[in-house]
Amino acid sequence: MPGCKLNLSTIFFLVILQGAAVVLFCGWYAQLNLSSFVRSDNKVHVLLLSSWRSGSSFLGQVFSQHPSVFYLMEPAWHVWTKLQKTGAPAHRMAVSDLLQSVFQCDFSVMEAYLPEKHSVSSLFMWSQSRALCSPPACPLTPRNEFSNQTQCLKACKGTSLKGVEEACGTYSHVVLKEVRFFELESLYPLLQDQNLDLRIIHLVRDPRAVLRSREESAKAFRIDNAVVLDQRNVPAGEVQYQVLQEICRSHMRINERAILKPPPFLKGRYKMVRYEDMAHDPLGEIFSMYEFVGLEMTRQMEDWIYNKTHGKGKGSKKEAFKITSRNAVEVSQAWRTMLPYSKVKRIQEVCKEAMSLLGYKMVNSEKEQKRLDIDLLVPQEPYQFTPIQEDRISSV
Ligand SMILES: *[C@@H]1O[C@H](CO)[C@@H](O)[C@H](O)[C@H]1NC(C)=O
Ligand SMILES: *[C@@H]1O[C@H](CO)[C@@H](O)[C@H](O)[C@H]1NC(C)=O
Repeated sequence: MPGCKLNLSTIFFLVILQGAAVVLFCGWYAQLNLSSFVRSDNKVHVLLLSSWRSGSSFLGQVFSQHPSVFYLMEPAWHVWTKLQKTGAPAHRMAVSDLLQSVFQCDFSVMEAYLPEKHSVSSLFMWSQSRALCSPPACPLTPRNEFSNQTQCLKACKGTSLKGVEEACGTYSHVVLKEVRFFELESLYPLLQDQNLDLRIIHLVRDPRAVLRSREESAKAFRIDNAVVLDQRNVPAGEVQYQVLQEICRSHMRINERAILKPPPFLKGRYKMVRYEDMAHDPLGEIFSMYEFVGLEMTRQMEDWIYNKTHGKGKGSKKEAFKITSRNAVEVSQAWRTMLPYSKVKRIQEVCKEAMSLLGYKMVNSEKEQKRLDIDLLVPQEPYQFTPIQEDRISSV
C-alpha cells in the first residue's frame, strides 16, 4: 500500500518534530513549576507603623485618598478587642496572620473577629478608606476624587465582605495602618512571603509633642494605656510617663532592628519618617514615601496635601481626632509653649535613648524650650543598608 510508505526524510522530520515537542513541553513544565514561586500579581503591600497621636491619621489619608490605593485603618484592632485577655505573643501571631491575609485581599480570616451578620460597616473605621466609598465597592465617589466620610458612612455601609475583597483586588497598592506594633520580628514571615511585596513606613514623632497631644484626649486612651502597660498597675500620675516610655522603647526597638542589625530580607523595605520632617516639608516627604512604595504623585494629591497642611492653626480640642486643615509646623511646635518644663524634663528622662536615636535634641532649661528659633531636629543621615550575617538571624 503506497500510502503507508514512509521515506527516510519523513521519518527524520517526525523525529525532529517529536524532539522539539519534548523540549517545548519541558520548558513549559519548568515554567509552570517556577510560576508557583513567582508572585501572581504585582501588588505592593504597604504597612504604616505608628503610635497614637503621631500624625498617622493624616498619613493614612495621604495614602487612602490616592486613586491607586486600597487602604484599611487598623485591621488588627479587631484582634485587640477580641483577644484582650490573652498574652502578647498570641496577639502578635494572630495579628501577623491577619495582616498576611488582608494584604492579599482575603478577608475570610476577619470573620472570626466580626459579628455573625457583618458587612463593611463592621470593619473598624471603614469609612476612612476612600476605596470603600468608590466603585466597585460603592458607586458614591469616583476613584479619582476625594471621598467624604459623612456621605460614605450613609451611602456605602451595606457592602458585603465579598464586595470588599473584590474592590481590594482592583488596586495596585494595599496599604494598612497599625498603631499597636512594638517590634518588627513578628513581620518576618510577611517579609519572607513570596506572595507579598511588603514595604514598611515607620512614622515617629517627638515624644514631648506626643504627650501634649495625648493630654488633649486623655480619656480616649484609658484602654489603650492598659494594653501598652500590659495591664500593670501604675500610679495615676505615672501612667502617662510609663506609656510614653513604652512607646519610645518600641520605636527604638523597631528602628534599631531595621537600621543597626537588619536581616537581609529587610533591604529596601523599611523607611523611617519623622512627623516633624513631614510638617516642615510635607510635599517633599510624601513624594519620597510615594517613591519608596512606587506610587505616582498626582496633581490632585499635591493640592490636597497642600490644603491639609496649610490651614487654620493648632486645631481645637474637639478636632483632636480629626484631620483638619492646620498649620502643620505650628502644630509640631505647640508643646514648646504649652507644656511645663517639669514635664518636658521628665519625658526627656524616660525617652532619652529613643530621642537620641531618632534625632530629637533635648532642651536643658525652660528658656531653651521656649526659644522657638532653636531647632531641635538633628538632620537625618541618608540610610545605608548593612545587613547582619544570615546565620545570626535566628539568634537575634
Ligand atoms: C461632606 O458631606 C457633608 C454632608 O453632605 C457636608 O455637610 C460636608 O460639608 C462635606 N464635607 C466636606 C469636607 O466636603
Ligand atoms: C484646595 O483649596 C482650594 C481653596 O480653598 C480649593 O479651591 C481646592 O479645591 C482645594 N483642593 C483640594 C484638592 O482639596
